[in-house]
Amino acid sequence: MDKISYPHIIDLPKFLDARGNLSFVEQENHIPFVIRRTYWLYDVPGGECRGGHAYRENQEFIVALSGSFDVVLDDGKEKKVFTLNRSYYGLYVPKGLWREMENFSTNALALVLSSTNYDANDYIRNYDEFLNLKRDGKI
Ligand code: TYD
Repeated sequence: MDKISYPHIIDLPKFLDARGNLSFVEQENHIPFVIRRTYWLYDVPGGECRGGHAYRENQEFIVALSGSFDVVLDDGKEKKVFTLNRSYYGLYVPKGLWREMENFSTNALALVLSSTNYDANDYIRNYDEFLNLKRDGKI
């Protein structure tokens, strides 16, 4: 299957060093898209859930720079939970999946690299609408 059509964990380069470790990510090399935007989630109170939407076009790569959290991905038929808790790998999220982020640990820092600029019209925020679009093959 085409790598950019399904979610998967991508291991990043890791330089272990007594002075401190270093990892990095390059667009169109480690991740299969050009980075148009970067945002991060921080100070998430215990028990809170972020996300709860799908994107029509936007692809993402999510890294737990510190702490841990779960990313729940749903293709309309099944859900998969990815626990992120290291800064040397991340989760590639293709477009067209319902995604939620939950179980944030104290001091969790979620870095998100995105393939598009922010566009409110790219969001599908209603789950039933998401299911209908999936059923009709529109996303
Ligand atoms: P949103 O993506 O709705 O977060 P969540 O789905 O986790 O609740 O973003 C929350 C707010 O931040 C929303 O009003 C739009 C704004 N926002 C931007 O302006 N630019 C961005 O890149 C992102 C991700 C959000």
